[in-house]
Amino acid sequence: MPVLSSSTAPNSEQFQTRQAAFDIALNRLRTQQAQVSEGGGEKQRERHISRGKIPVRDRIDMLLDPGAPFLELSALAAWGLYDNKVPAAGIVAGIGVISGVPCMIIANDPTVMGGTFYAETVKKHFRAQEIAQQQRLPIVYLVDSGGANLAQQDLVFPDKEHFGGAFYQQCRMSASGIPQLAAVFGPATAGGAYIPALSDEVIMVKGHGHIFLGGPPLVKAATKEEIDAESLGGAELHTFETGVSDHIAYSEAEALGKMRDIVANLNSPKNLSVTENAAPPRFDMAEIGGIIGDDLKVPYDIHEIIARLVDDSEFQSFKADYGSTLVCGFAKIMGNPVAILANNGVLFPESAVKGAHFIELADQRQIPLLFLQNITGFMIGIEAERGGIAKHSAKLVYAVSNARVPKLTLICGGSYGAGNYGMCGRGFCPDFLFTWPTSRTAVMGGETAAGVMTDLQRSKGAPEEKIAQTEKGILDQFTEQSDPYYSTARLWDDGVIEPEQTRTVLGFCLAVTADFERDRSKRPVYRM
Ligand code: COA
Repeated sequence: MPVLSSSTAPNSEQFQTRQAAFDIALNRLRTQQAQVSEGGGEKQRERHISRGKIPVRDRIDMLLDPGAPFLELSALAAWGLYDNKVPAAGIVAGIGVISGVPCMIIANDPTVMGGTFYAETVKKHFRAQEIAQQQRLPIVYLVDSGGANLAQQDLVFPDKEHFGGAFYQQCRMSASGIPQLAAVFGPATAGGAYIPALSDEVIMVKGHGHIFLGGPPLVKAATKEEIDAESLGGAELHTFETGVSDHIAYSEAEALGKMRDIVANLNSPKNLSVTENAAPPRFDMAEIGGIIGDDLKVPYDIHEIIARLVDDSEFQSFKADYGSTLVCGFAKIMGNPVAILANNGVLFPESAVKGAHFIELADQRQIPLLFLQNITGFMIGIEAERGGIAKHSAKLVYAVSNARVPKLTLICGGSYGAGNYGMCGRGFCPDFLFTWPTSRTAVMGGETAAGVMTDLQRSKGAPEEKIAQTEKGILDQFTEQSDPYYSTARLWDDGVIEPEQTRTVLGFCLAVTADFERDRSKRPVYRM
């Protein structure tokens, strides 16, 4: 296999300057991640522990196989919203290995506003279910939630991808053979009661877990009956009398142990194929920050990144001498084959048709696709339009939409305009989508957008003062909204990751998707 080379000079002034700028962005990511991992803060945590309860991340640690990886998803959901009072959107979600079986874990954090569901909480819960459904991962729900956040009821209750939709997904997954398991560590109130009630197998912790459609205050208001939570919906009632729960645990640790036993007996066919001894890249992943810096206007050669992600830096290029602003080629990551499409400049008609052709090859050969996005968009202008860029770019978008193999997307630079579509942005349903901390996502760059709007105003004779205001307003808006934390807060991705972790994350995701159900029906490879 051909091996990529590198011309990176870590001692150069340019590298050092870019590294310093990138480090600032990296520190921001780490600081924010550390902050959200504290959950609802020290006071809430102490109150939680004083009730004899285990913090949510410790519950997950105890559930996982010792030393097994846990791919946390969307850790910074709701970041910057609600004065940052809803860290991680009050729910921890991720893929981890339990009793040897890769599972999706969805765990409420009761230290964050009683674990109630905000708009982003529902979105995160729903997205985790969607991933589990696509990858056929059993779901383990660690339930400890006050249900819908009543102040947000219009944002969490009525629509398709709200509470009802999440229950619908749960029923459909169970019926399609994807196990749904719940351990109840706290309230499962009102709508929230259906998470355990619709699970295939349920464990309740005595004294902690409560399942009821209406809690004691609501019962008192509605029927005038007075009753405590344990008598109304505790573990003994539901395990010994109603049968809502299948197992009682007398401590949280016991419940987690029982859940491990249940997963061990799922007879699950799912396995993770990570080749531990795959040859690492020949170049240092820690150098990625110094290569990319933080200024998207300064270009870098995407081969330098590929050389730091793939096994042994081996890369078999496809059409290296044609449409070279889209780099295409085959490689392996942690032993798993992957077909990479990576931007190295604006997309021209030739790059677009090359990409479409390459996707067909990957689809025919059943090789997952990896998109490395650093794209301002497709080429515009007289020559490009007359060359049929609309038609050629559509071919790429069409091929991306209909590829039957798993798709992973990493936004490592800019993700603008139709470039986002052609390179498998969120709308094109990649199995996983991650971003780097210096990435940007928007319909176009802020300066371009400001140019469009100010030109329009100028053509209508608007005064210069008003035009300057518009320009500033749009620049500010685009700066704020293209920030990767703005995106991740709203669940437009599955998380912001560090360049140095990227190989491990992608390798893990490829392993999760590796036994995808293959549609082996024949499809032609059209030469573009
Ligand atoms: N909607 C909006 N806010 C809620 C809420 C809900 N469903 N449930 C709790 N909160 C808020 C509380 O007002 C409190 O806010 P504050 O810190 O600003 O005072 C915060 O969440 C924590 O609640 P608290 O009651 O102090 O925590 P707790 O751990 O003692 O009890 C619950 C948690 C969930 C058991 C309890 O708050 C409760 O029973 N809530 C109502 C649940 C309900 O009826 N849900 C209906 C869903 S359809």
